Amino acid sequence: MTVERKRKTYQSFPDQPGGSQSFDKLIQLRLPALKGKSFLDVGCNEGFFCGFALHQGASRAVGIDMSADFIARARARFPACEFLQQTWDRLPDEKFDVILLASAIHYAEDQPALIARLVEQLAQDGTLVLEIGIVSDPSNQWMPVKRSIDTRYFPTMRKLREVLEPYAWKYVGTSVSQTGDPIGRYVVHIRRRRPLAYLLMVPSSYGKTYVANALFPKANIPVVMGDVLLDDIATGKRQASEALTAFLARRYTKGEVDRVMRELFAEGLGDDFTGAWAGDSAAADIAFDGFIPDRNQDAMKKRLLALGYFPVEMVWPLVGSVLTGPRIAAEQAAAYGKHLAAAMPPPAEAATPEPKAGAPSNLVKSWKADGVLGFVDKVQAEGRDIAISGWAVDETGALPQGFVVSLKGEDHHCRSETKVMRPDVGKAMGLKDGRVGYHLRLRLAEAAALPEVIAGLKVVAAPDGEPKGKPFRISAKIRPAATA
Ligand SMILES: C[S@@+](CC[C@H](N)C(=O)[O-])C[C@H]1O[C@@H](n2cnc3c(N)ncnc32)[C@H](O)[C@@H]1O
Repeated sequence: MTVERKRKTYQSFPDQPGGSQSFDKLIQLRLPALKGKSFLDVGCNEGFFCGFALHQGASRAVGIDMSADFIARARARFPACEFLQQTWDRLPDEKFDVILLASAIHYAEDQPALIARLVEQLAQDGTLVLEIGIVSDPSNQWMPVKRSIDTRYFPTMRKLREVLEPYAWKYVGTSVSQTGDPIGRYVVHIRRRRPLAYLLMVPSSYGKTYVANALFPKANIPVVMGDVLLDDIATGKRQASEALTAFLARRYTKGEVDRVMRELFAEGLGDDFTGAWAGDSAAADIAFDGFIPDRNQDAMKKRLLALGYFPVEMVWPLVGSVLTGPRIAAEQAAAYGKHLAAAMPPPAEAATPEPKAGAPSNLVKSWKADGVLGFVDKVQAEGRDIAISGWAVDETGALPQGFVVSLKGEDHHCRSETKVMRPDVGKAMGLKDGRVGYHLRLRLAEAAALPEVIAGLKVVAAPDGEPKGKPFRISAKIRPAATA
């Protein structure tokens, strides 16, 4: 009587318990979602994991194994999968979204080289799932491990870290232990590294440049400053797309980065701008420090992803206080001037009636209609300092609070605004209070000659910091020859 010896099998199926707990291993592997993805199992044995991939809706499942016997059994079990009898020295000439190498790498002569070749075989952002034995030892080496069937080399954790250094990888956890193996098995997921694009786009005052300087130079990562880039393109020091270069030639003004960036994205030139610093495809880590309008930040990250980068947006809480804006600073200074003036007796010199621009009572009607009626009676210029005097009356018959002086098309808030007595105006207009004269002082960035000041002069009431109503009339006495 002949007794048929039972075949020794590795993978387990419901009809066949094998040496490996395949269902438990499947759980521990934590395979990425497979629906619509391509899957390759290297050292596939009887095709257990290829069958699972197809069951999950993979678009394609390919298994390779050097054993003709295992490949035959795999084909019989899973005819819808593709099985190739070959060693891993030859891999299918295509990219896969997910590649599995489970309980097999210790058979490779050059284990790091096999990992490198499999990572090469991954599609963009594909995952290599590696199940591997790791020796519990603090050293950094490959250690021979005597198993029940043979002796093979396994890495210590430090060695594995070193081998995986060129990749993006994640330790996933332990796998099932294998009977006859004295060491534990573990699962790691490995991906190709994408160059990192660090994005520092927090608002002004958050310390973007401070953080960038603290981190990137020591890591040899170049930092692109958004404002410098705009300036370089606008001045021809740096190349960009034709459309972006032409746009900046028309719209760029130094110091107006926020406006230029907003307009640039509104014109649909965001991708051109990103390409100007990030290139046509990701090659190396880079950092960007600059203003990008909130609503355009996602579009920029999407573009960086498409270029092959791993965009990393850096955010942190505000430390300290926000920089006061120029308009608010000017308003504060004006308000402070008013506050000081109100607490002081009117200056003797200012209390003296100024040269009259005329306050004829026949203007009373138009004053009511206009809202604010104002005159400029006197202008003085000394270097950068300008003094302007006159009178103005608002709807309530009082001097309006706040003025804006426009010189050569540029608005200025005053360094001081002093209220002065104009009894002549009060009397002529029948006002209760004659304190409707003003004396304004402002300082220009550069000295200006008096005729130049008068030529483009406009004074307007700005009760809430914003110009309101018509510009004041300029007295005939100071036009065109000025009184200095
Ligand atoms: C321990 S089994 C693991 C099977 C399967 N990966 C699993 O985890 O269930 C190792 C498998 O690798 C295959 N194998 C070993 N060396 C190989 C090589 N150089 N090329 C292809 N397959 C190989 C063996 O035939 C065997 O099926």
